[in-house]
Amino acid sequence: MSVEATDAKTFYVTTPIYYVNDAPHIGHTYTTVAADVIARYQRMRGRDVLFATGTDEHAEKVVRAAEAAGLDAQAFADRVVTAYHDAWGRMNMSYDRFIRTTEDVHKGIVARVFAQLLEKGDIYKDQYQGWYCVPCETYLREDELVDGRNCPDCGRPVEEMAQDAYFFRTSAYDDDLVREIDRRPKLVQPDTRRNEVLSFIRQGLRDNCVTRLNTGWGVPVPGDEGHMIYVWFDALINYLTVAGYGYDDEKFARTWPPDVQLVGKDILPRFHATIWPAILMALGLELPGTIFGHGWWVSAGGDKISKSRGKVVDPQAEAELLIEESGCTTDVAIDSVRYYVLREVPFGQDGTFSSEALLGRFNADLANDLGNLLNRTLPLVERYLGGEVRQPGPGAGCLTEQVTAAVSRAERGYEELDFRDVPEGAWDLLASANKFVDERAPWDLHKTGKKVELTAVLYDILDTIRVVALLISPVMPTVAPEIWRQLGLEEMAVEMSWDDCEVGQTPVGAKVERGRPIFPRIDMARVRQRAEQQALQAQEQEGSQGQQMISHEQFQELDLRVGRVLDADRVEGADKLLKLTVDLGEEQPRTLVAGVAQQFGPRELIGQNVVVVANLEPATIHGVQSQGMILAAGEKEPVALIVADRDCQPGEKVT
Ligand code: MSP
Repeated sequence: MSVEATDAKTFYVTTPIYYVNDAPHIGHTYTTVAADVIARYQRMRGRDVLFATGTDEHAEKVVRAAEAAGLDAQAFADRVVTAYHDAWGRMNMSYDRFIRTTEDVHKGIVARVFAQLLEKGDIYKDQYQGWYCVPCETYLREDELVDGRNCPDCGRPVEEMAQDAYFFRTSAYDDDLVREIDRRPKLVQPDTRRNEVLSFIRQGLRDNCVTRLNTGWGVPVPGDEGHMIYVWFDALINYLTVAGYGYDDEKFARTWPPDVQLVGKDILPRFHATIWPAILMALGLELPGTIFGHGWWVSAGGDKISKSRGKVVDPQAEAELLIEESGCTTDVAIDSVRYYVLREVPFGQDGTFSSEALLGRFNADLANDLGNLLNRTLPLVERYLGGEVRQPGPGAGCLTEQVTAAVSRAERGYEELDFRDVPEGAWDLLASANKFVDERAPWDLHKTGKKVELTAVLYDILDTIRVVALLISPVMPTVAPEIWRQLGLEEMAVEMSWDDCEVGQTPVGAKVERGRPIFPRIDMARVRQRAEQQALQAQEQEGSQGQQMISHEQFQELDLRVGRVLDADRVEGADKLLKLTVDLGEEQPRTLVAGVAQQFGPRELIGQNVVVVANLEPATIHGVQSQGMILAAGEKEPVALIVADRDCQPGEKVT
């Protein structure tokens, strides 16, 4: 069924535009997947959509990265942009516009906006004296620096600057900003971030420096070519360029303002919730519907995953791992990564990325719950109904309540950007449907000749699978059509429309077409075994590389402390491991996992003052998070524990 557009306004959704100094990783992918999901959902609702993303290219660090790669800045940017195009293509991102800030049309709009604000007096020339973080492209005040010289965000040293510059009169807009954010609770989201933003603005805003001396890479200040427009000002204007501002009035009227702007929490308070709306106010333009600051993917140690911090999770590599372990197709693997990032963590909060959790979700949610329902139902339809959906009698509609609940939960999830609600609702429905199959036992109905009931039960199950496919299709845009195909709906040219998210829309006569299982099961025991083997091999390799000297400074990086073992217990299913509760003189005792269970009983450890590596990155071992490591003698296996030979306080430093 095709749907009439429900709203004349184009639904406009944006991601941040990404710096081209490195290739996309899980952080960039996360925002783009979320925006893609919104765009796909809105299209299913019949809306005209503009989903825009792109690249932020005029950064100082691009020039430096280009120099290091022996390329000029434009050639370097072109190369990284290709990596973005490729990655987004592989992830099935359905953007309508990919903007590059090096496009002429954009550079023209940046210069034009700058000139407009200059003329209005909202931009003025003065002296800039202060600090600048090159990697973050951020101007900083002295009181914001860490240890008087480091950037509060990336921790690296900042550079001092003193020069003539242009300033944007942000300070003129603080009251208006507070009023708007107060008046429109949806403007800045989620609520916790909105409160942070409000208190940030209430402290009073200072005008922002919006130019640097012209280095030849960027948009020059109109009429004063010795200066160049600051990369952040340039980048924010992309949202206007994409909407047609200044060159396509009809498009702009239809598109502006953005309905949803997604950004990470790091670029929300200062840039997207302050300078950006202040620029719009200065231009007399309407503010966006919602600016949402999502959380970060962090590594096990709690650090943001990013190349500058030396930690990167590559979604492609994660998809390849899924393919290797399960034998699923590339499309299914990509959809599964998309599913994982939206289901694992509430949008807005931080999450720890773990390949093991990804594989686990694939098995539990996708192979077991969804795949299993499909794989057990289609053969029943083939066997009992000749493979064809039959007209159900009055007994059908047994899952109506559960379907309705899942649909409204998904709608809420998509509309409120609470994406986790979508799979959670759909999976509740799948659980009901799987239970329904068990309880109504179609094989018994067949045996006892209850044809009418059998037809109705199988109809209800197929119809439920159809609705689940619709609900998840923005998140899993290739899996959903494959389910559609297996239900015989593609063959009947049934469109995937949100309007059909209700019971009883499965057409009679559809011929099911069993395919190979979409989600082949993963042998998790084998995965664990292999991971343990790899860890062991790595250790052995390290050991065989001969003795390497370390410096005093390197040794001092180790935080060795005395820890008193308060409790010790075996770890279920792991005969080498003990789970220890250790007092390190901190507020809370820590949990540590130690591979000493075959040599030491739990009782031998309780009360001992062991030596603990206290600043070791936490690691999850056999499902238990270990926050440190105890020391023992013995190369292959522990033969003696290293303990303090006389009494001392927990937490005492070992030097
Ligand atoms: N170019 C600027 C944005 C300009 S928008 C007018 C920028 N680029 S970025 O490439 O550094 O980051 C882009 C986005 O990716 C940000 O929203 C950032 O929060 C997000 N992420 C980068 N690493 C992240 C994680 N580890 N986790 C989640 N998102 C994070 O900032």
